[in-house]
Amino acid sequence: MRSSLPVFLLLSVLVVGSAKADDNPCQDVRLSGFVCLNCTTLGYCLRDTTGNWETISMLGCESNHNFFCSDEGTFGCTWQAQCRVPKRGPFNCQQAGVFPDPYDCRKYHECSDQSVDTPRLCSDGSGYSTLEESCAVPRESAQCTEQQYTCDRSGQVGAWPADNRYFYVCANYTPNSLYPLMMKCREGFVFNSYSCVPDSRSMGKELQVRETKKCVDNTRYECPFRTSEIEYCKCVAGELELITCPSGFHFDARILTCVSERVHQCRDFEVLSCPNTTSSDEYCLCIKNQLQIYNCPVGHYYNSEISKCQDVLNGRVN
Ligand SMILES: *[C@@H]1O[C@H](CO)[C@@H](O)[C@H](O)[C@H]1NC(C)=O
Ligand SMILES: *[C@@H]1O[C@H](CO)[C@@H](O)[C@H](O)[C@H]1NC(C)=O
Repeated sequence: MRSSLPVFLLLSVLVVGSAKADDNPCQDVRLSGFVCLNCTTLGYCLRDTTGNWETISMLGCESNHNFFCSDEGTFGCTWQAQCRVPKRGPFNCQQAGVFPDPYDCRKYHECSDQSVDTPRLCSDGSGYSTLEESCAVPRESAQCTEQQYTCDRSGQVGAWPADNRYFYVCANYTPNSLYPLMMKCREGFVFNSYSCVPDSRSMGKELQVRETKKCVDNTRYECPFRTSEIEYCKCVAGELELITCPSGFHFDARILTCVSERVHQCRDFEVLSCPNTTSSDEYCLCIKNQLQIYNCPVGHYYNSEISKCQDVLNGRVN
């Protein structure tokens, strides 16, 4: 019973989000673009001007024939020996800092001092490492293929396997569903089965080295020093670089991409070559008669003849 004490202390400070509509999974995902909502459904997540998320179900997959949803390079249904789509759930910032997403290894969250969550996604399909502060975890690793938490009852706690400076507390979301709230021990402490204890290794310099904050390569950011609305920042080799949207486009900070100024005659979700772009890895997606710019995964370029991203090395279509 000794072990329940720290848990009570923790539960008193938890920030649990308000109830959501069950038919709006993008409210949990909070990333714009194509996202597998579950093993069988490809969705498109859109954020409207009031900040609310809208889920558009795009495609259903024949899961009984092992066709499962894919949002890595290919957006659609692909044959998979086993469904790779993680079980989704809500995330609520508990503290300021960077936190791994408990469901999807590719995703992580930047929580502000005001507990505002900015979700990020490794654009090259690999998993995010909180230790390296970069997208350094291979997609095949256990961190990406196996559930990293166990929630059988409310108040259950555990260390985050990949980095024990982090831990989770299971909370009730609805009476029948539990989800892990991600927390972090304070500097120099690690989680050992039920509480944060001083980290014997923190005497070394290892942790200080990790303090240098780097951006995630190939990800778009709003520039801290942005001066005009056609500019944004892109992470190149760990540094933010100022980029200008192609002519006729401006940067939309809500969806972190360039959007065309004028109205285009195109169908929703039609994939097109971007007019005026100079990057071979960019393609445009038509949303409500506006073009939004997206990037192919790293190592791929956009082949306009087949409207798909193609592998630079072996020509494999992705
Ligand atoms: C998958 O998600 C879609 C859209 O939210 C939903 O309609 C469907 O019931 C879900 N399927 C499963 C098996 O959960
Ligand atoms: C491409 O650039 C030209 C010249 O700046 C501009 O007039 C045109 O509208 C742009 N095209 C699109 C589709 O925005």
